[in-house]
Amino acid sequence: MSSFESKVQEALANPRNQGEIQDADAVGTVGSPECGDMLRMWLKFTEKDGKRVIDRASFQAFGCQTAIAVASMATELLRGKTAEEAKFLTVQELTGDLGPLPPMKIHCGQLVEGALRNALDHDASVPPSVQLGTENMAPTLAASLHRPVAGKLRIIPLD
Ligand code: FES
Repeated sequence: MSSFESKVQEALANPRNQGEIQDADAVGTVGSPECGDMLRMWLKFTEKDGKRVIDRASFQAFGCQTAIAVASMATELLRGKTAEEAKFLTVQELTGDLGPLPPMKIHCGQLVEGALRNALDHDASVPPSVQLGTENMAPTLAASLHRPVAGKLRIIPLD
């Protein structure tokens, strides 16, 4: 087993922050039509030192083990970050201690990144200028199936 795989197994043995945050400020859901996996992320903000930061992040995943392991890491990493800081985290940063994702697993990390960005897009307090555009994303899963694939991966918001 590679060191990446053993770290994934370690994360899966004790996944963090699974399940809904009842009074969340933002929720994002994305899916990958290619593999059929889905991931939802909840964010709860708080005020700290005059800044609005993420107090808690949680997730629910319907998908592969890598996505669950990355989401577990990412939701830990997000604590204390502002929406702006969270927005600029890359997939490889969100994986934390898991280390770099193998090429075959990058889309699993992108599912987590997509759910985070989708949640930030739905955070009413983030000005539109800071929000990430979802103009390249299809509005519904059904609609996305009729769109040409741009690039190898499609992560689509599921509202
Ligand atoms: Fe689809 Fe991992 S195989 S998210």
